[in-house]
Amino acid sequence: DADANPPVRRTGDWDGDRLAALADEHDTPLYVQDLDRTRENCERLRSAFPDADVRYAVKAHTGRAVLETVREAGLDAECASAGELDRALAAGFDGDRLHYTAVNPPARDLDYVVDVAEREPDLTITAGAVDTLDRLAERGYDGRLCLRVNPGVGAGHHAKVTTGSAPKFGVPYDRATRVAREAAARFDVVGVHAHAGSGIDPDQLDSHRELVSRMGDLARDLIDPDPAVADPLDLEYVDVGGGFGVPYREDDEPLDLPAVADATREAVGDLSGLALAIEPGRYVVADAGVLLTRVNTVKPTPEETVVGVDAGMTDLLRPAMYDAYHPIRNLGGAADEPAPADREATSVTVAGPICETGDTLCRDRALSRPARGDLLAVGVAGAYGYEMANQYNSRPRPAEVALTDGEATVVRRRERLADLTTVEEAPEVGR
Ligand code: LLP
Repeated sequence: DADANPPVRRTGDWDGDRLAALADEHDTPLYVQDLDRTRENCERLRSAFPDADVRYAVKAHTGRAVLETVREAGLDAECASAGELDRALAAGFDGDRLHYTAVNPPARDLDYVVDVAEREPDLTITAGAVDTLDRLAERGYDGRLCLRVNPGVGAGHHAKVTTGSAPKFGVPYDRATRVAREAAARFDVVGVHAHAGSGIDPDQLDSHRELVSRMGDLARDLIDPDPAVADPLDLEYVDVGGGFGVPYREDDEPLDLPAVADATREAVGDLSGLALAIEPGRYVVADAGVLLTRVNTVKPTPEETVVGVDAGMTDLLRPAMYDAYHPIRNLGGAADEPAPADREATSVTVAGPICETGDTLCRDRALSRPARGDLLAVGVAGAYGYEMANQYNSRPRPAEVALTDGEATVVRRRERLADLTTVEEAPEVGR
């Protein structure tokens, strides 16, 4: 039943009374992550790509409850750092469901991952530079290896997250065959990998198709080479990355996931038994999360009306960093004000408490006229929301509650002022 698992949950679909009650109980700013919706997103991915390996890109939301939900839903974990791998292990992923993607990996990360691989030999390390291969070999690693390739074609919602065309990521496409063959002398080369970028929208599907088709060609070249030139590699999979976009604007169309899956299958071509793998992060968690923030100041000025709230770029960095659009809904709550639906739409700028001009959640946005005490729900905040939160301006990070079957659990407590200084030591200077 398609209605039971719609392709998108809009910010207006959340139960506003429930969110208001959560904000009253747990204070703001508050992240709310619906684990049931997270699970539905996993299920939609698995049913659109029924025989693909679906690997959740942990970086989008690393919370323990999310990781356990994703694991139970049958997805693997793609980890970008030792810390993410550590979290995935703690959440119960077995070695054969762990993938570590090294991007200029610090020595400490490599030491940790190689150590884990000794205990979990089914873990796969993805590397995108010959230097990284050398550094793995220096540590005695000879296990499962996937080669990250720079596909030369990128896509994404912003240049800053368009990885596919950035030289930083992966071995250049035209050297990939040679590097993979050479790597096979030292490692068990099991796959090839590429990632176009993050936030691929319906109008960028051509780039996705192009990447997938190049990766299919590369894999065929490796498993079925001209016998005069090279021995075949015993690959298991072709990983075409993540990046599936979600609608942020209220009128954005969702990706037609089954159509994307068909296009992917067609573009990759005949894989002669190799598995197709994908690595979605955002798609799994984005529309399952909202950020709740309280209006504390309304300031009409000659230029604009500035609505001051208690969440800023430290809580949700995406608008400041990428000019990202997040839908915002006024849930009301201000004393002596009518329900938001009965107030006129007013163009406002919503600004946080950080001393930077860029600290806005939206600009010139028509909202039901916000008043002091109102609660705002910032939608589609489940991916790269809490994950990118920081303590700039010495602001403790917000709390997060997880919803499952309607039950709310605090899964990340609100940081306290004392948390800000836990890693500091006072020097003797000046005493
Ligand atoms: N695989 C690899 C190798 C990646 O680098 C990424 C994201 C993903 C998978 C998952 O991409 P997704 O499906 O989530 O789009 N902070 C940015 C997004 C950065 C994504 C970086 N890599 C944002 O808030 O938009």
